[in-house]
Amino acid sequence: MLTSARDPAPAVRDDPRLMRTPPPAVIVIFGATGDLTQRKLMPGLYSLAAQQLLPPETAVIGVARSDLPDEEFRARMRAGVEAHGAIPVDDGVWEGFARRLRYLSAPFDQPEGFARLREMIAEKDARHGTRGNRLFYLATAPEFFPVIAENLGRAGLADEGDGTERFARLVVEKPFGEDLASARELNARLNVVFRERQVYRIDHYLGKETVQNLLVLRFGNAIFEPIWNRRYIDHVEITVSEDLGVGTRGGYYDQSGALRDIVQNHMLQVLSIVAMEPPARFESRDVRDEKVKVLRAIPCFDAASAARDAVRGQYGPGWIGGERVPGYRQEPGVDPASNTDTFVAMRLMVENWRWSGTPFYLRTGKRLPRRATEVSIHFKAAPHLPFATTAVESVAPNLLTLRIQPDEGASLRFLAKVPGPQIDLRPVSMDFAYGNAFLRTSPEAYERLLLDALLGDSTLFARWDEVERAWEIMDGLIHHWSATPGPFPNYDAGSWGPEAADALMARDGKVWRRL
Ligand code: BG6
Repeated sequence: MLTSARDPAPAVRDDPRLMRTPPPAVIVIFGATGDLTQRKLMPGLYSLAAQQLLPPETAVIGVARSDLPDEEFRARMRAGVEAHGAIPVDDGVWEGFARRLRYLSAPFDQPEGFARLREMIAEKDARHGTRGNRLFYLATAPEFFPVIAENLGRAGLADEGDGTERFARLVVEKPFGEDLASARELNARLNVVFRERQVYRIDHYLGKETVQNLLVLRFGNAIFEPIWNRRYIDHVEITVSEDLGVGTRGGYYDQSGALRDIVQNHMLQVLSIVAMEPPARFESRDVRDEKVKVLRAIPCFDAASAARDAVRGQYGPGWIGGERVPGYRQEPGVDPASNTDTFVAMRLMVENWRWSGTPFYLRTGKRLPRRATEVSIHFKAAPHLPFATTAVESVAPNLLTLRIQPDEGASLRFLAKVPGPQIDLRPVSMDFAYGNAFLRTSPEAYERLLLDALLGDSTLFARWDEVERAWEIMDGLIHHWSATPGPFPNYDAGSWGPEAADALMARDGKVWRRL
């Protein structure tokens, strides 16, 4: 029988993910009444349960400050899964899942609640057979991260012995600090209680199928690696464009901005995967060693490079999808005189043998015309074209575009002859779309990362030396920008950002790809 990439999903018993069922554990989510828990964590856990990737013994305890009976908590969580989950809720599966869902009302900064948590966990261990395994998830405001870790330590909950019999892991959401100094301080405080091997720093971009596919594209195929370097690649463009504004997150975002919210973490992680050397094995240490080497090869911003190679923007009022939308300074929770960046464009160099002389251009912003995240590899032009009649502007160099979201896929642009008596060239493209090639939906990033954390696989989590280096690169820029008022607002909502971003590219004789 002939098979093709369009064949339906293999039978469940053949699914390699089934071999990835983690040991039973108690999962404790701090910040259980928050947005992240409702939108991402519960739908992710439910989806794992529905696929039988969570052992039935698994118990989940939500911790937050508000007073809430278990029943009400379960109802809210179900509403979250229904509204944001990738699959419809099945009553039978939900019943089984909800039976192991408990709520604990406790302030994060007082030890008493942690004593109660310890009792609840002990009871779960005894009743459900969770064998002393604990996964703590910090989905709270960042100021509570160290306090919760310290209280877990005081309650004796961070101890996992030598880690072979049972585990105690701490999953830490972003932001991991707000600059280099605060990230170092946070890490030092977490390390008093948890060892590095117990700490899982989430960067949800690493959980995206398409970001993992970058590794497969590069290292599972023989044709790309020989040309994946400065000799063949003119420049690389990475865009994370969002059409949404800050919505209800104005309070958080106004303290953060695009540089801290997206560039320092998500974009540098993607860049390091695009630029890394092939790891010897697809294992946590090997992959992360190679990624951190890339980050070490990127020079840190100083005042001169901040002024030369980086552009910031903030949106004013404008139109998106035919609707009038407010400017950033008019958003709820935002200072009306805010100096926060909602757009960043920059040019980075990776100073090593592979990439010397090949610029990486990064661009991200809120309230841009559309939501699109992609990596574009712009190849150098052919050294000589023997076709005399062809207009030069139609001879676009090869371009490999990796679409991370939406329309997940990849396409390769190359030149083809226009049918006819003379040689006319026109760029055409070969396209791969996940939606057409695989008749299954990709798991959500959080679902994948929760599973990995339970399995003890930290490959897709950021190690401390990566996070530290990413802050080192950006620290000069962060401080330069916070000390100088930006020319804000400097782009209309619904436009592609400030003119200075185009000028940054134009200086090198290039233009941003139109998305
Ligand atoms: C988050 C940022 O980390 O990533 C948000 O805090 C941003 O501001 C989001 O909107 C983007 O994630 P995604 O998966 O929608 O690209």
